[in-house]
Amino acid sequence: MPAAAERRQVATRAMLDTCARETVTSSFMKLGVNIDHVATLRQARYVGHIDAHNAEPNISVAAALCEQAGAHGITVHLRADRRHIQDADVYHLRQRIVTKLNLEMGNTPEILEIALRVRPEEVCLVPENRREVTTEGGLDAAGQIDALRPTVDRLRGAGIRVSMFIEPTHEQIEASHALGAEMVELHTGAFANAQAGPQLDQLERLREASIFAHELGLQVNAGHGINYSNIILIRDVPHLAELNIGHSIVSRAMVTGLEAAVREMLVAMQPCAS
Ligand code: PXP
Repeated sequence: MPAAAERRQVATRAMLDTCARETVTSSFMKLGVNIDHVATLRQARYVGHIDAHNAEPNISVAAALCEQAGAHGITVHLRADRRHIQDADVYHLRQRIVTKLNLEMGNTPEILEIALRVRPEEVCLVPENRREVTTEGGLDAAGQIDALRPTVDRLRGAGIRVSMFIEPTHEQIEASHALGAEMVELHTGAFANAQAGPQLDQLERLREASIFAHELGLQVNAGHGINYSNIILIRDVPHLAELNIGHSIVSRAMVTGLEAAVREMLVAMQPCAS
């Protein structure tokens, strides 16, 4: 492993040890936890039966645990193909979330009507392609101004704050601003997937984009592929108000929670002493 990557891994370990079991109650940057992959796990067994008495994991419980740990918001993506989060999840979350709900959605009439009924505090408009494994690349706000404008207007008219999930370029930021979005979410995928050297170039791109968006008066968020290692670099990008993180947190929860889950089952398997 290259020395820089090793140093970063050591720093991450030290940070996680320090933070272990602490609830961070105040932080400059806010955290929205994307719980799509909690639903991915449920769908793997209970697709078509999400209200069954034994369906698990429970999405609202997962959201409540994130909030209890200090998350500032819950993010879900209601995809046109409903591959993870379902309509009923969004309605349940709307009832139960005590922080804020950020609904990610593609610009389609069907999902727009749902958003207007659910009234999340925030909507993040994202590109959507049925064949992609996850959201690949940012929304082409600059190329779709005419198609996006009525959607942004209707959401804002309903009192919903609007964000655009875009690549960190001036063109996309200017288009988001022209559309009247209050926020941009800078796509951090290219940064997250780059190797050490090129990663610093991607970080610089994010820094420049963030400064530019902030100067235009936009709230700057970021997300995609942020994990417990690269957060050390991302957290120094100026003006970042909120990070939306999903896969890495859910993956880590699986590893950190597995031992306890096995222990609990072994205890449950014991016959009761009478
Ligand atoms: N932000 C947006 C707009 C997303 O679409 C996603 C999921 O791709 C995320 C944040 C979270 O990304 P990840 O699961 O990689 O943390």
